[in-house]
Amino acid sequence: MTERKPFVGGNWKMNTNRTTSADLTRQVVDALNTVHGVETAVFPPFPYLLAVRTILRDRGSAVKLGAQDCYHKPDGAFTGEVSLDMLKDCGVQMVLCGHSERRHVIGETDELINTKTRAVIDAGLTAVLCIGETLDQRESGHTDPVNQRQLRAGLAEISGDAMANVIIAYEPVWAIGTGKTATPEDAQGVHAKLRKLLAQMYNNEVADRTRIVYGGSVKASNAEELFRCPDIDGGLIGGAALKAPEFAGICKAAVKQPK
Ligand code: PGA
Repeated sequence: MTERKPFVGGNWKMNTNRTTSADLTRQVVDALNTVHGVETAVFPPFPYLLAVRTILRDRGSAVKLGAQDCYHKPDGAFTGEVSLDMLKDCGVQMVLCGHSERRHVIGETDELINTKTRAVIDAGLTAVLCIGETLDQRESGHTDPVNQRQLRAGLAEISGDAMANVIIAYEPVWAIGTGKTATPEDAQGVHAKLRKLLAQMYNNEVADRTRIVYGGSVKASNAEELFRCPDIDGGLIGGAALKAPEFAGICKAAVKQPK
């Protein structure tokens, strides 16, 4: 089986300001200085990307810079949108696609999310494709079909080779920002099914090497039991990513768990 390097991303959402984003970046860099064996990234709001990037670069940090969204068109009359060239210009290396808040608050469709995911890959960046069922869908027994549909649709027309630039984030919507975390058994069950589906869509090698991370109320105190599961390769962190010691604790918990 391929060794998958764990990944932990901190999604700051629409939080922080000019001062606190810089402070948080410095604290995260310091806290992660001696942490190896896990790929880490922060996803600040657009206006602070450049300042965060400068801090990461000046401090020689391995923490990667991510954006929370993008627009797939290269340029033109798209008021309010941000292109991938602009993001690359600001040093962005990865982009979230289809985060549940973009699906359910902003109204992004599977088709748009796929278009964005393909554009991120074409731009040479890593796409973090987020999928996950709502509480209604879970309670009506539709967890698997919803996640399968979102995975298939999100990855439409993306080749097995291009999958090297994709991370999947399974984030059950009912667990995001609610303090309710999926049990390790539940999350592992979904992750294993997603990996099986990747094997069907591509092949065993792609399924084996693709990282599938979990998101939804991950904290330093519950990270280890989640990341110990064989198919959970790290996490996408919201609230807990706004506190550097907490985020660092989660990153440390992801460092190669014996599986
Ligand atoms: P949370 O958010 O950790 O605050 O639940 C996770 C996410 O939305 O990525």
